[in-house]
Amino acid sequence: MAIISDGEKFKSEKTQKETRENICAKTTDYDNCFETNIRPKSFDEYIGQSQLKETLKISIEAAKKRNEPLDHLLFYGPPGLGKTTLSSVIANEMGSKIKTTSAPALEKPRDIIGILMSLKKNDFLFIDEIHRLNKIAEEILYPGMEDFTIDRTIGKGETTRTLRIPIVKFTLVGATTKAGSLSGPLRDRFGIIHKLEFYTDQELKQILKRTASIINAEIDEEGAELIASSARGTPRIANRLLKRIRDYAVVKSDGLITKKTAQKALKLLNIDEYGLDITDRELLKLLIEKHNGGPVGIETIAAALGEDIKTIEDVYEPYLLQAGFIARTPRGRKACCNAYEHLGYKIPSAQQNFFTD
Ligand SMILES: Nc1ncnc2c1ncn2[C@@H]1O[C@H](COP(=O)(O)OP(=O)(O)OP(=O)(O)O)[C@@H](O)[C@H]1O
Ligand SMILES: [Mg+2]
Repeated sequence: MAIISDGEKFKSEKTQKETRENICAKTTDYDNCFETNIRPKSFDEYIGQSQLKETLKISIEAAKKRNEPLDHLLFYGPPGLGKTTLSSVIANEMGSKIKTTSAPALEKPRDIIGILMSLKKNDFLFIDEIHRLNKIAEEILYPGMEDFTIDRTIGKGETTRTLRIPIVKFTLVGATTKAGSLSGPLRDRFGIIHKLEFYTDQELKQILKRTASIINAEIDEEGAELIASSARGTPRIANRLLKRIRDYAVVKSDGLITKKTAQKALKLLNIDEYGLDITDRELLKLLIEKHNGGPVGIETIAAALGEDIKTIEDVYEPYLLQAGFIARTPRGRKACCNAYEHLGYKIPSAQQNFFTD
């Protein structure tokens, strides 16, 4: 069986891992500084997700007219699609301040009580990875979300009493890559729940041009088109690729990112025309070469690739599923015809039947 894998051999494993960590959709500390400059601040700058933006604009306008805080919002979807960005855009549009935290930082009751009590009227509270909130934190949050109160238990034994303390009206924004892991009662308390979709190449091109103008990168139309189509429908990946390719263009040519420079740089980064990186291709090869196309359990995939299950599920799989390279079945993941074709393997007839039946 022939395997197409451009330039894979000349890189050491370490460099390959560093490269994919720099390019994949996971966040890093480095990103946080870079992202502050390029993060859209208003709906006008926030490209794509048009239907979602329209619905949100109506809710915002209605809340403003009623002079009330916006309903609690929950955004879910794969990493890098703009959940955090959208949350701060909405707070800006409401003219409110946003306090940002994440569920793992709210381990003790005092953490969540402290943050709820520190809110000012109409503030936004953004909780990232909200599916990781523990039961106690969730239970403190329920009356906070519903009635803007906190129930505190004081005293011990027979003298135990519950005190109901009022807090200000606020809007909670939860973000998660795993909507399915959120508890039912918590999910039910959000008035507005939305999934963020992958971006079209056209939208990513617009995002790239905007970022290029902020970071003073020179890019032509075709260069932007190529990067957009290699960015797996994800703005964070598009922006990261832009930076890496800009470096390449500056060092190896005159600084202008053309289609040709972008092609060469992407080859060096081991990213193919579908935006798949080494890990994506290893995952597909694993299914096809070692397991006859699958189904293969997620634990086996994670162990074979040396990644954790969460990373495979949250970072790699969503795009492979949406682009039709793999399918999820009750017994595990299967490679689809697209995967065979893309990697240059002959599609077994059993596989053809499986996906056309
Ligand atoms: N609609 C958009 N228009 C322009 N740029 C965007 C858009 N959405 C996201 N971005 C850019 O992509 C980067 C990643 O977005 P963001 O951090 O909001 O993703 P996220 O969904 O919160 O990811 P994670 O799940 O990892 O927290 C941001 O720095 C932002 O600049
Ligand atoms: Mg985020």
